[in-house]
Amino acid sequence: MTQEELFKSLIAHAKEYGFIFQSSEIYDGLSAVYDYGQLGVELKNNIKRYWWDAMVRLNENIVGIDTAIFMHPKIWEASGHVGAFNDPLIDNKDSKKRYRADVLLEDHIAKLEEKATKEVEKGKKKFGDAFDEVQFRATNPNVLRNIAKANEVRERMNDTLNRNDLEAVRQLIIDCEIVCPISGSRNWTEVRQFNLMFSTQMGSVSEDANIIYLRPETAQGIFVNFLNVQKTGRMKIPFGIAQIGKAFRNEIVARQFIFRMREFEQMEMQFFVRPKEEIKWFEHWKETRLRWHKAMGLGDTKYRFHNHEKLAHYANAAADIEFEFPFGFKELEGIHSRTDFDLSQHQKFSGKKMQYFDPETNENYIPYVVETSVGLDRTFLAVYSSAYCEEKLENGEERVVLKLPAFLAPVKLAVLPLVKKDGLPEVARKIMDDLKMDFNCQYDEKDSIGKRYRRQDAIGTPFCITIDHQSLEDNAVTIRYRDTMEQERIPVANLRAIIEDKVSFRKIFEKI
Ligand code: GAP
Repeated sequence: MTQEELFKSLIAHAKEYGFIFQSSEIYDGLSAVYDYGQLGVELKNNIKRYWWDAMVRLNENIVGIDTAIFMHPKIWEASGHVGAFNDPLIDNKDSKKRYRADVLLEDHIAKLEEKATKEVEKGKKKFGDAFDEVQFRATNPNVLRNIAKANEVRERMNDTLNRNDLEAVRQLIIDCEIVCPISGSRNWTEVRQFNLMFSTQMGSVSEDANIIYLRPETAQGIFVNFLNVQKTGRMKIPFGIAQIGKAFRNEIVARQFIFRMREFEQMEMQFFVRPKEEIKWFEHWKETRLRWHKAMGLGDTKYRFHNHEKLAHYANAAADIEFEFPFGFKELEGIHSRTDFDLSQHQKFSGKKMQYFDPETNENYIPYVVETSVGLDRTFLAVYSSAYCEEKLENGEERVVLKLPAFLAPVKLAVLPLVKKDGLPEVARKIMDDLKMDFNCQYDEKDSIGKRYRRQDAIGTPFCITIDHQSLEDNAVTIRYRDTMEQERIPVANLRAIIEDKVSFRKIFEKI
């Protein structure tokens, strides 16, 4: 199965089992907007809890807040979003389809690189064990030509975009002979900048109404509350403010399922530090955040850093944590050293002082900020796509299993009476009623035990407990483990402790 086919299957699976639905599906859907179903919301809440507790509970100098989506419109002028939160767009005149110019070019670069990779694969097949990839890449003319072309296009793209020379961006698309995937033509319009913020109006009478934006990031809610929190919480620098919440962006290229959405959730933390100490803290948070991701156990090799060479005007260091999604390595989290840009801008635009008096140095200053910003939906996709597995069993059967980290699984255990009679359901219900006080449990007595196991495998339940006739005598049950399918007999009295141990957040926190 190709990665593309696998990705399609996991999207279908997410719908079939109540994890994620297309928004407004009965009206043919709303592009790049999704709803989380009954199991999706449980998984999402567990990820939120993991992030929140790791930030707010484990760090004495970080507190959390929850700010409004609507904010004063001047905030978005101060932050630079009104002026510069844009995507370069181009239309194909024949298909009338609109594209992001940079994405068309990035796709073109990816195709060139893929051609080089295919050439390497061919070489591997031809030379077998004697194949020396490094030498092949350094000498094979087809590989060298495609890589050189890819690098040249990338350089020109970065240069033209950085200079905001939109005519040159269009010329590059024409020079690369990029065609519209729908019409197949090269009949392109000019490139225009398109602001990504959604706007609406506030006020009851339309003439009086003010344009107001749906926030494109949660961070600004933290910046404008910096002094409120610092003073009321008696916080001393260095300290952090964390927030989880919705953000909205009018993404033109909406694809790859929940990777790029128009309404999504961010988990952001702004860490306020002394000027000149920001790079030290930037390095600290880069490493800490990577440990947080790796502690989930999705596989250490699935993560890598991408350090930004070209920085936004307000940043003096920036890096992404990229994750290997089914469609390749892509940004999962951004860690940015944002200097004193945001607080200074708010001081300027609001006319209110955004300074902190440092009792240790006896100085007043605008703090510097290191930000960690991770997409909740992207983390969900990372967890979900790593867990999705189609397995061939020894007996020739197949099963779809979600090998979710147990501490994040939506349902922790299923309680299954072997048969629907002889008093087994009553015993099972009693166990269920007790364990549901601690864990999210499911009770299921319908169909054969094999079918019930498969249903639980498909939603990632780490443990199934079967109550059989012997249970009535020995007060013990069979526990079945999802990943190994091994079974063990254990006393009912030990159940809680065994499960508690395996789904504990504590063990994960100890790794961070
Ligand atoms: N406050 C900084 C900020 O918003 P960003 O790199 O634009 O930085 C941070 O976004 C994270 O938010 C990204 O790394 C990604 O995980 C998530 N994100 C951004 N746009 C998204 C979208 N359209 N859909 C889903 N997640 C998105």
